[in-house]
Amino acid sequence: MSRGDAAPFIAGEMLHVDGGQVSATESPIELRPVGEGDFAAWLPLWEGYQRFYRIEIAEEVTRRTWERFLSPAEPMYALLAMMGNQALGLAHTVHHRSTWTTKDHCYLQDLFVAGEARGQSVGRALVERVYADAARRGAARVYWVTHESNHDAIRLYDRVAHRLPLIHFRLEIVN
Ligand SMILES: CC(C)(COP(=O)(O)OP(=O)(O)OC[C@H]1O[C@@H](n2cnc3c(N)ncnc32)[C@H](O)[C@@H]1OP(=O)(O)O)[C@@H](O)C(=O)NCCC(=O)NCCS
Repeated sequence: MSRGDAAPFIAGEMLHVDGGQVSATESPIELRPVGEGDFAAWLPLWEGYQRFYRIEIAEEVTRRTWERFLSPAEPMYALLAMMGNQALGLAHTVHHRSTWTTKDHCYLQDLFVAGEARGQSVGRALVERVYADAARRGAARVYWVTHESNHDAIRLYDRVAHRLPLIHFRLEIVN
């Protein structure tokens, strides 16, 4: 396990406690931070996420991002949802300063569940684990954005967070 994070956590147990629901998957799903040996399990999910968004992130960026997940000096974190040796989902977060609170904010930048594992509460369990980790690391807020056409994701998000009437702006800086 990397970076002294909390002990592994079983998704089904949390869902049972929180909502009286039982995960549809037969085996328990373990949510845990990535460790050094997880690159090969994580990469196909990361690539699947890029295909979903029709983007291609350069290999050197992926390598750097992976190193940052493993570095205790970096406020970037990655979780995997594992069923045995099979990685079913990922969540990536970045903690950063805020002018509105003395505590940091946690940006949930990437969330992905493999196609065959969707609709079985893996995504929900990942979000809830992100909440728990963010609280443990002292963050005041978890937030994220999604595309307005991403109805599957929005259905989940409307159940676990507050929807805001904000519009997202962006400018790429080319050096
Ligand atoms: C969005 C995503 C992460 C959700 O993961 P998931 O494991 O399928 O979500 P869950 O099973 O936890 O869904 C929770 C709720 O949303 C609904 N839901 C979400 N996706 C669903 C799907 N594909 N099929 C059926 N229901 C779905 C369910 O109604 C479920 O409600 P319930 O808990 O009351 O049953 C997953 O669909 C995914 O990876 N999509 C592609 C990438 C993506 O959109 N990422 C998010 C970018 S912001």
